[in-house]
Amino acid sequence: MCYKRFFTILLITITLSLLIYTNYRWKSSNDQNARFLEIKETIRRYSNPAACKQPNLPLNSPEIMEFLHDVPPIDCNSWIDWVQCKGSECSIKEEIETQKGKLKCAFTNIIRTDDFQITDADTVNTDSYYKLEESDVVNVSCTASDSTTWKSILTGIRLNKEIWDRSGWQYVPRDGLRLNVLMFGFDSISRNTFIRKLPKSYLYLTKHLGGLVLKGYNIVGDGTPQALTPILTGKTELELPDVRKRFIHTQNVDVYPFIWNDFQENGYVTAFLEDLPSTGIYQYRLKGFLKQPTDHYMRPYYMAIGKELYKWPRLCVGETPRHKVMLNYIEQFFSVYKSKPKFLFGFHGELSHDNYNLIGAADDDVLQFLKNLNNSGVLNDTVLILMADHGHRFGKIRNTIQGKQEERLPFFSFRFPEWFAHKHEEIYKNFQSNLDTLTTPFDIYATLKDVLEFRSPIDGDLKNRAISLFSKIPPQRSCAQANIEPHWCACMDWENVNLTLDIVTRLADTMVTTINNYTADHREICATLRVSKIEWVTKMKPSEQLVKFNKNLDADGFVADLSAHTKVLSHTYQIKLQTVPGDSIFEASITHHLKDDRLDLKIADISRVNKYGAQARCIENTYPNLRKYCYCLTD
Ligand SMILES: *[C@@H]1O[C@H](CO)[C@@H](O)[C@H](O)[C@H]1NC(C)=O
Ligand SMILES: *[C@@H]1O[C@H](CO)[C@@H](O)[C@H](O)[C@H]1NC(C)=O
Ligand SMILES: *[C@@H]1O[C@H](CO)[C@@H](O)[C@H](O)[C@H]1NC(C)=O
Ligand SMILES: *[C@@H]1O[C@H](CO)[C@@H](O)[C@H](O)[C@H]1NC(C)=O
Ligand SMILES: *[C@@H]1O[C@H](CO)[C@@H](O)[C@H](O)[C@H]1NC(C)=O
Repeated sequence: MCYKRFFTILLITITLSLLIYTNYRWKSSNDQNARFLEIKETIRRYSNPAACKQPNLPLNSPEIMEFLHDVPPIDCNSWIDWVQCKGSECSIKEEIETQKGKLKCAFTNIIRTDDFQITDADTVNTDSYYKLEESDVVNVSCTASDSTTWKSILTGIRLNKEIWDRSGWQYVPRDGLRLNVLMFGFDSISRNTFIRKLPKSYLYLTKHLGGLVLKGYNIVGDGTPQALTPILTGKTELELPDVRKRFIHTQNVDVYPFIWNDFQENGYVTAFLEDLPSTGIYQYRLKGFLKQPTDHYMRPYYMAIGKELYKWPRLCVGETPRHKVMLNYIEQFFSVYKSKPKFLFGFHGELSHDNYNLIGAADDDVLQFLKNLNNSGVLNDTVLILMADHGHRFGKIRNTIQGKQEERLPFFSFRFPEWFAHKHEEIYKNFQSNLDTLTTPFDIYATLKDVLEFRSPIDGDLKNRAISLFSKIPPQRSCAQANIEPHWCACMDWENVNLTLDIVTRLADTMVTTINNYTADHREICATLRVSKIEWVTKMKPSEQLVKFNKNLDADGFVADLSAHTKVLSHTYQIKLQTVPGDSIFEASITHHLKDDRLDLKIADISRVNKYGAQARCIENTYPNLRKYCYCLTD
């Protein structure tokens, strides 16, 4: 009787396993296609077909300010490293030898098996230096004559003849832009967050280096892989082979057509750097790489260091702040391969993924990093792409409208060498004219393709989902044309307002009162203006789907839950009107704060649309700031 029960249980187990197995197999081959078609249909039906109007997102919005605070610097000074690696040379520090006499150090190469396993290779003992050849990562253990010890895991750039021989500018396509690519990003940093938390780096990048910031760069999906895969492959996850980890019969990420493969096949040395191996972009939910994806790859280092981190102060590896390990590696990579074409993509998550403020502690280091890149000449033949995947996604910030809008508008910037603007005048002008236009990760892919091999036309075609930033993108581009699902689209919906509504009178009154207040001190010469005609009023509001977006329903981020009731705190109106005397025409954006029913308008937000000409002659030289608003009573 005991047997009978055993067999029944066995039979049930086998049936269940088979059911689950077939179900998973079915799911993994079919749900991707079905979701792909659904998303296409959603975009067709619900995306706003109107030209994108970007939301107005003040840096000091009270909705966001409550989440901001300063953080203390990252202090690793209590620790001293005995050995350091520069390029491929790892050497014992002189000051340690002076202090402690000759050291005995054991260097063990750490070798990558695959994305989830590393092994130790042979150990070499030395009392001077060690050259990295087999691996970029070494486990180092040193003993001094006073029998004190020091251990750490170090990383550098190994010398490899095969990489060296395969790469060179002579192999780079003639019609490429012949630039190195240095793309480096932080996780979860919106454009506004970058300006708020990394102000020194932002100023240096934009003012001193002339970096160009994309103000209309909008995400096309939720999460890091959804943000980066279109940049790196030109496609979304649903358009690529299934590589999800939790399904069987799926492939490794090696099948993805990564753009670094194209660069590598055309003479470039490639590198992919990412910290946080346990939540890796291509390893957390996806199956990871079997073959190492790029010539240099930091994952084995971060896997090896993981178990050792407890030894050091918070956010440190020995004497070095952890984010600087990656920044140093980038500098080393560009120095070792100075004469070679290079493509590097680095992505840092530890400081910013779960914390809104911690990234502020890296501002000085990022600034220094940018200065070093410039001063060493790296930026003279490199396009620097400083970027992020998306804005902050977690917690309370996501429950505010501005937080949601900022989440959809990550920081994304390009900086070209100074000579580039002269040598490639037309495409550089196009690039500049695209800064305020709606742009997406698909466009970045097309842009990178052009860097390798220039193919794009001067005028972008709105029928194409991806338009290179070197083409002129028509400013009337909509989220639908750019293939952005409605709940990811940060562009505002807008509608014409019936001019008989009460709000219209209030808006017009606010506008002329603001102008009249501004000229009030000069009433003896500037006339009091009255509204003679309201031409139009439009109301802008965040798209309904953005307001309703709550979270993803599935683990892959393919299905949206649209059940949120995010509070809309304000509406924005645009108004155009005419005043007398003088028939002046003004336009303005006015914010209506719903909580206290208050209209908010600053004089700087009012623009004069028609010429003021001789009307302002009386104050022309004395009060030039009044010219737009003053109708002179006397000549
Ligand atoms: C590094 O070497 C130490 C012994 O010196 C060992 O305990 C540790 O596990 C090694 N770490 C790795 C990641 O191999
Ligand atoms: C960039 O570096 C060059 C020298 O390589 C220097 O002349 C220039 O002043 C630097 N620019 C900035 C903004 O630091
Ligand atoms: C930058 O590169 C250009 C063109 O290759 C060269 O003429 C110029 O001297 C370089 N400038 C610096 C500061 O290295
Ligand atoms: C505006 O509202 C008035 C009164 O409700 C209505 O008569 C008029 O047709 C509306 N105008 C437009 C353009 O919808
Ligand atoms: C104009 O000035 C008056 C008096 O200083 C003030 O009460 C009013 O709020 C101002 N109105 C606007 C729209 O600035």
